[in-house]
Amino acid sequence: MTGAPELKAPKKAVSHSTLGRAQRWSWIFQRVSGVLLIGLIAVHLTVNLVMGDGINQIDFAFVAGKLANPFWQWFDFTMLVLAMIHGANGMRMIINDYAQTPWIAATLHWALRISTVVIVILGTLVLFTFDPCPAGSDPSLLPSFCEDI
Ligand code: HEM
Repeated sequence: MTGAPELKAPKKAVSHSTLGRAQRWSWIFQRVSGVLLIGLIAVHLTVNLVMGDGINQIDFAFVAGKLANPFWQWFDFTMLVLAMIHGANGMRMIINDYAQTPWIAATLHWALRISTVVIVILGTLVLFTFDPCPAGSDPSLLPSFCEDI
């Protein structure tokens, strides 16, 4: 066989007015989180890639300096949670539309749930347990405020 396997057409779309309560909230959440993510990611990319030295400024000291600031910790946390739920919710709908047997759908749904929870937990741990001044490191690689500690 050559090329990608043929994909069956997705199941028929239902009109928004016939959606159940949970599906309606999921529909609204995708739109609201999508708009919020555009703003959050625009700020993220501007601060990291446009302001200051742009991409050249990104090193340990830069990331450590940001993650030592509660504003950026909570900013990144909001972006992490919204992006992960938005992405997982979108993937859930794609699985519902394209999985061809209940067994495949259930397996993919569980893989998605587990990977989403693991990534949110690991990402949150990074944001709130990050040590900006690890003992014994070369001071030239650390943010300047580590000298005062
Ligand atoms: C070329 C593009 C990008 C670059 C250079 C970049 C760079 C970085 C850097 C340096 C950090 C460390 C902390 C911080 O700066 O706040 C970070 C964290 C993060 N970025 Fe990006 N980023 C990019 C695109 C994106 C996009 C498109 C998203 C989509 C949501 C994203 C989501 C995140 C999240 C959620 C974190 C926090 C991760 C954690 O530690 O839990 N980034 N990024």
